[in-house]
Formats: sequence, structure tokens, C-alpha cells
Amino acid sequence: MVDVDARSILAEIDPRRIPVHVGCVMDGNGRWANKRGLARTQGHSAGEEALMDTIDGALELGVRWLTVYAFSTENWKRPPDEVHFLMRFNESLLERRRDELNQKGVRIRFTGRRDWRVPRRLIKRMDEAIELTRNNRRMTLTIAFNYGGRAEIVDAVASIVKSGVSASKISEKMITSHMYYPDMPDPDLVIRTSGEYRISNFLLWELAYSELVFSDVLWPDFRRQHLFDAVKEFQNRDRRYGGLDAP
Ligand code: IPE
Ligand code: IPE
Ligand code: MG
Repeated sequence: MVDVDARSILAEIDPRRIPVHVGCVMDGNGRWANKRGLARTQGHSAGEEALMDTIDGALELGVRWLTVYAFSTENWKRPPDEVHFLMRFNESLLERRRDELNQKGVRIRFTGRRDWRVPRRLIKRMDEAIELTRNNRRMTLTIAFNYGGRAEIVDAVASIVKSGVSASKISEKMITSHMYYPDMPDPDLVIRTSGEYRISNFLLWELAYSELVFSDVLWPDFRRQHLFDAVKEFQNRDRRYGGLDAP
């Protein structure tokens, strides 16, 4: 359903100022389901269409990097049934969607910890998706799974200490080079859905100068026109990076 709405918003977007990297905190699945008298897990399932339409919208805009938050290091606190569902759901989603994403020229990556809690079968699907799409360059879709911004910083610090570098050599550039994906540009735009005004441990180091857009839409209702809206808002922002505007 690429409706008239999406087309008309798209017409107002400047194609020369598309954000290179868009991050997305996909939140509100449970509330979407509750409102309909459904189980929370059905909200997660309904989020798949939102994700696929957002990916298509990002491709249409020419976004080069899209990072989506699928499971945080804190989401293990949820009831075991929900956690289990999310593991199986992500596993099957990868299996169902990898060919289609591959055909669209999407390179799939995962960011986050691969610890013992992530089921082997899911790791296997992740590796298959990475391998299948590794040469694609139209867009890099990074799925943040068992990801925490603080955990990433902790892992970077551990890796720096392990490398035996002296304190005088520590710099921002050096720390960046120890993050999970040093080649990934910082996000220009981060969108959070569901009307929550927080970051919830998403890309803490990387979003120092990202433009933040908060949307009231619950994730399963999110479609490309909402992405286009966020990009339009992004284009109205004045990014100063601590400096001053040119006179
Ligand atoms: C986001 O939706 C998906 C995950 C965090 C895995 P939620 O499950 O957090 O939905 P709400 O916030 O409870 O509505
Ligand atoms: C953030 O949403 C994590 C993901 C979308 C995967 P949460 O629902 O976990 O965040 P809080 O608990 O509302 O901060
Ligand atoms: Mg939530």
C-alpha cells in the first residue's frame, strides 16, 4: 500500500540531503497488541510488515545504512515465553526474508553480543543471512540484536585494554575503531516509535550528534510514509555540531 500520502511526502524531500544512516528503535508492539485484545507476541509478528515497508521506503529514498533495534541486552528481563517467541520469530523472519532482501541489494549485518543466551539456531540463521548478502552494497541493514550501547562500550574498553595500548594513545578515533562496526557511519537520524522519549541503550556512542525524531505511531503501524515524515523533519533541522551557522 504505497499510498498517495507517501508519494506527496516524498515529493517534499530534498533528494540531495537524504540521511546516510537512519537508526530505528522499533517500539510499541506490545501496546499495539493490547489495544486489540491480542497477545503481545502478535504485536511482534505484526511488526514484520512495518519493518519490510520501512526497508523498502529507505531503499526508495537512497538511505545507505539502516539500523534497527530488535532486541536489547535488557529485553532478557521479559517473561521467558516472550523471550523465546522473539528468538524463534527472528529466526523464522530471517529465513523467510533473506532472499527477498538479497535480491533488493541489501547487506545484512547484526550488531550486539553473541553470548550463550542467543540460541544456536538463531546464530546459524544470522550467519547464513550475513554470508548470502555480504557482497550487496545498495544498503546495509544492521539488526541490533542482544545489543546494548553500554555493552558495546564495555566491549570496546575490554578490547582496548587487551591490545595493551598506553593511555596516551586513547582518542575518540581509537575508541571508535574498537566498536562493533568501525566502518559504520554515525547515524544522522534516529527514530523512536510509540511515544516514548528515550534512547533505551541504543547506539550510545554513535548517536552523539544524531537528530532524534520521536513518533507516536506504534511500531506495527509504522510505514514508509512515517519514515518519509521523519526524513522531512530531519531536513528542517539545523545541525551545528557545537559550532555556529555560517553567517
Ligand atoms: C518493541 O516492542 C519490541 C521489543 C522490545 C522486542 P515492545 O515489546 O517493547 O512493545 P511495548 O513497548 O511493550 O508496547
Ligand atoms: C527498546 O525498547 C528496545 C527495542 C526496541 C528492541 P524497550 O521497550 O525495551 O525499551 P523501554 O523498556 O521502554 O525503555
Ligand atoms: Mg517497549
